[in-house]
Amino acid sequence: MIYFDNSASTFIKPKQVISAVNDSLTLYTANPGRSGHNASIKSALMVEKARENIAKHFGLNIIQNVIFTQNCTTALNMAIFGYTKKGCHIIATENEHNSVLRPLENLKKDGVIEYDIAYQHNPTGITLNDILPYVKNNTSMIICNHISNVNGAKAEIDEIGKFCKSKNILFMLDCAQSCGHEKINMEEQNINLLAFAGHKGFYAPQAIGCLLINTDKEISPILHGGTGTNSLELFQPSSLPERLESGTLSSPLIAGLNAGLNFVESHFEEIKYKLDDLSTYLNFELNKLDFKIYTQPENSSGVIAFNIDDFDSSEIATILNERYGICVRGGYHCAPLKHKALKTLDQGAVRVSLSYFNTFSEIQHLLYALKNIKNKILKQTKCK
Ligand code: ALA
Repeated sequence: MIYFDNSASTFIKPKQVISAVNDSLTLYTANPGRSGHNASIKSALMVEKARENIAKHFGLNIIQNVIFTQNCTTALNMAIFGYTKKGCHIIATENEHNSVLRPLENLKKDGVIEYDIAYQHNPTGITLNDILPYVKNNTSMIICNHISNVNGAKAEIDEIGKFCKSKNILFMLDCAQSCGHEKINMEEQNINLLAFAGHKGFYAPQAIGCLLINTDKEISPILHGGTGTNSLELFQPSSLPERLESGTLSSPLIAGLNAGLNFVESHFEEIKYKLDDLSTYLNFELNKLDFKIYTQPENSSGVIAFNIDDFDSSEIATILNERYGICVRGGYHCAPLKHKALKTLDQGAVRVSLSYFNTFSEIQHLLYALKNIKNKILKQTKCK
């Protein structure tokens, strides 16, 4: 099997991640933060170390403002619902995933908010100029996808962050596809809220993510329950992370995320170069095949989208899987507005998403398969 669906979930995990999960299941299985005995304290210390490492990685000064969540979707929902008050106006971009678009649409339907979508004019990604026309007096939050999960378009976040700071607007970054290979510093880049999942760029297991909070504005929890603190109170505590972390945390998944983060930090430059080299090579070769390519040639995010003529992208993905053992994702990638902008609503797009563990020879296999599909298999289909 050749695996090119790393934007959905990385498949090959570093051995350090597997060992950390394994160790956690044998050494840290007590409930972190619920009891005073040594086993619980050991789990809690590991969780707090992970929190500290995550805060440091993203340039967040307050360690307690790292909130463990189930995934990026949960983190985004927590922030959107947690900071929304009736009458607010929010701006998001055409590159957002449904994990942003659906909560916004839901809040709009219920008459709580209004929102606008900023459209990308520069082919490389969203800029501040795309957002400015939509800013209103009551704009309370700007949500920006950092790297598009459809075609790797990358937003220019520095300018957006500076603008948000100057207007006291919350700036939330969806880092689902950028974490692990883009340098992100919340303090320096004026990012108030950051959401990511562990199982993509950090090569961690699924079902662990984080919301990072870099603002004094109080957040309302969307989940209420046991926190191991203030247990006699019937209200959720006001302090973070407890306010947002009701229920038992998963120490094995947090241990895996911490190990993935350590792996990424110790290979950061190599990961970046590898993704850059592989992306450039694949994009260059696909261009020679005369495909419809939706990723800019200079894009180095490891996410490359294309179509072969007008063929359905899911059909191409199925042929790659069944005949060549190559895993890619076709269809719409839960990002409807991006597909509308790319004019791919009829056929979706074939998405190849790379990881540090992919190789040039795997890409050569893919190119061989695609040439065959275009020149033989699809020609036969057309003839029938
Ligand atoms: N959002 C993930 C993807 O792009 C699942 O495939």
